[in-house]
Amino acid sequence: MKIAIMGAMVEEITPLLETLKEYKKCEYAGNVYYEAEYKGLELVIAYSKIGKVFSTLTATTMIEKFGAEKLLFSGVAGAINPALKIGDLIAATALCQHDVDITAFGHPDGFIPEGKLFIESDQTLLSLAKEVAMQMDKSLLEGVIATGDQFIADEERKNWIAKTFDADALEMEGASVAVVCDALDVPFFILRAISDAADMDAGFNFDAFLESSAKESAAFVMKMLDKLAV
Ligand code: ADE
Repeated sequence: MKIAIMGAMVEEITPLLETLKEYKKCEYAGNVYYEAEYKGLELVIAYSKIGKVFSTLTATTMIEKFGAEKLLFSGVAGAINPALKIGDLIAATALCQHDVDITAFGHPDGFIPEGKLFIESDQTLLSLAKEVAMQMDKSLLEGVIATGDQFIADEERKNWIAKTFDADALEMEGASVAVVCDALDVPFFILRAISDAADMDAGFNFDAFLESSAKESAAFVMKMLDKLAV
């Protein structure tokens, strides 16, 4: 089985590549794709660069060019739910785009005609993640992740996203990856470790915790691969 593992930033995939040690590099469409084998699984790994546009390109490429049959996203997020502290893990049950606004035409925030307001994650991968969390004795919150092309460092905007979408965390790529996977019928799983609380300290905390939180997320994804391999 071929599995895509994607991050947005180099820090989000480096721990995976360091664990795998051996991989082949392939340059395509302005990005580098790493191909590796792990316990009988074929892997394609890449970071997309930040935001919905680049993550759409990368997810599509991983599926259409590299033939990925499942996609796992590993990275960091800003917490909305106060239960989430720095380093904690959240798995998306559903994802939405908080920055889509055609409310002028009477549509709800986040909605695009003929699209879905929320895209739901694959239940099998979510169940697998719960098993992994139990085995690792880690708490894994399941909840809504809101995506937008903005780094949120503002309580007011964060509270608006929380209220409007009942979201637990926010980031900049999950929903666009979900749109691609949903359209192409590829099961997906979006995992994030918290780097900040999307508040006035978010910029500072993001820089301080990006690397350690990205490692938490990557270590969990490696354990998921162990389960997918059997
Ligand atoms: N990813 C991690 N923290 C974030 C934030 N505060 N806003 C958007 N994306 C993020």
